[in-house]
Amino acid sequence: MKYSRNILVTGGAGFIGSHVVRLLVQKYPQYRIVNLDLLTYAGNLANLADVESRPNYAFERADICDAPRIEEIMRRYEIDGVIHLAAESHVDRSIKDPFVFAQTNIMGTLTLLQVARTVWEPQGYEGKLFYHISTDEVYGSLEADDAQFTESTPYAPHSPYSASKASSDHLVRAYHDTYGLPTIISNCSNNYGPYQFPEKLIPLFINNIRNRKPLPVYGKGENVRDWLFVEDHARAIDLIFHSGRVAETYNIGGCNEWRNIDLVKALIKVVDRQLGRPEGSSLDLVTYVTDRAGHDLRYAIDSSKLQRELGWSPSLQFEQGLERTVEWYLNNQEWLDSVTSGEYQRYYEEMYSDR
Ligand code: NAD
Ligand code: DAU
Repeated sequence: MKYSRNILVTGGAGFIGSHVVRLLVQKYPQYRIVNLDLLTYAGNLANLADVESRPNYAFERADICDAPRIEEIMRRYEIDGVIHLAAESHVDRSIKDPFVFAQTNIMGTLTLLQVARTVWEPQGYEGKLFYHISTDEVYGSLEADDAQFTESTPYAPHSPYSASKASSDHLVRAYHDTYGLPTIISNCSNNYGPYQFPEKLIPLFINNIRNRKPLPVYGKGENVRDWLFVEDHARAIDLIFHSGRVAETYNIGGCNEWRNIDLVKALIKVVDRQLGRPEGSSLDLVTYVTDRAGHDLRYAIDSSKLQRELGWSPSLQFEQGLERTVEWYLNNQEWLDSVTSGEYQRYYEEMYSDR
């Protein structure tokens, strides 16, 4: 079959990537969606079990740092669009082992950019797009009464993770400005929802509440994050990929700021109710632990450009999203158990042994 577009999604076996792949495969049977993923600890093909047998879906296990392999894949599938999500994504891991973040997030992005340029430049850039998925963490940290991040907020990353993402954003812009590669970047706030690896706050705490394990709140729990349901992010990515303007940046956020401790209390309420436990019975699990090094106080993102120019807005109220997320984790125990066994168990125990 001749597909009207051939899109390479990197990191499609991860949390956000799997939602993007599912959306594109289902919504665009006329496109071929090629999921390229190394399947690190964070990548899991079970996340895509419901679409893997679709004729317009293909999977390639590959490292984004492996230029010859990426070039072969781009040529074989005649790729005309890249949606780049593959990354090391967890801030705490970046504090423990920054090198793999530099390798994957910086060198991996540079490799992809160079391969896209090598393959596309001789064909002409018409109809091609390299879309890079980034984070609001590149903008640094806000005080309680500061205005939200906009697309023109200067970069000020603090963690090795956000510094590596900032660096990759700069490389993407450099490839546009220097070589004319058609690029777009979007920077999103904290995602939550099904299939998120349970090292991140919401799935970790749902699992710990279920298992009556301590809930390690960093510092005083006063840090603020803006939360967006992952399917709303996937919809924004679809929209930006199709209608965004080349060389532009789009901020994506939920306009939904929560102090960590307030979010944890709200989460406990929902999990206890869904488990049939008396209200508040898991509050005793809250344990204040040593703060994350360089912990950014507050993220808040202004996504009015995306709303104004492309008509996107979040579809789900946070309360609904939280209910759906808790329900999914409690009903998908097998998935949780499979991803939290072995290597992750050892990482988790080590991580909290010194806190
Ligand atoms: P994730 O950790 O769940 O998934 C990352 C995926 O990348 C995994 O499937 C992993 O196997 C793959 N991968 C890692 N190294 C690779 C390599 N060298 N080659 C090929 N594949 C590799 O991450 P996520 O939370 O889904 O985040 C996806 C992207 O979105 C990242 O770029 C992240 O920076 C960005 N982002 C995440 C959030 C969030 O809240 N999770 C918010 C804004 C932006
Ligand atoms: O803002 C977007 C970013 O959101 C993405 O770029 C990252 O990939 C994603 O991991 C996320 O980063 P955070 O560091 O904000 O997410 P995390 O879930 O790790 O932590 C959320 C907040 O909760 C943060 O203030 C730290 C705190 N926290 C986290 C964990 C895992 C705790 O208090 N205890 C914990 O055990």
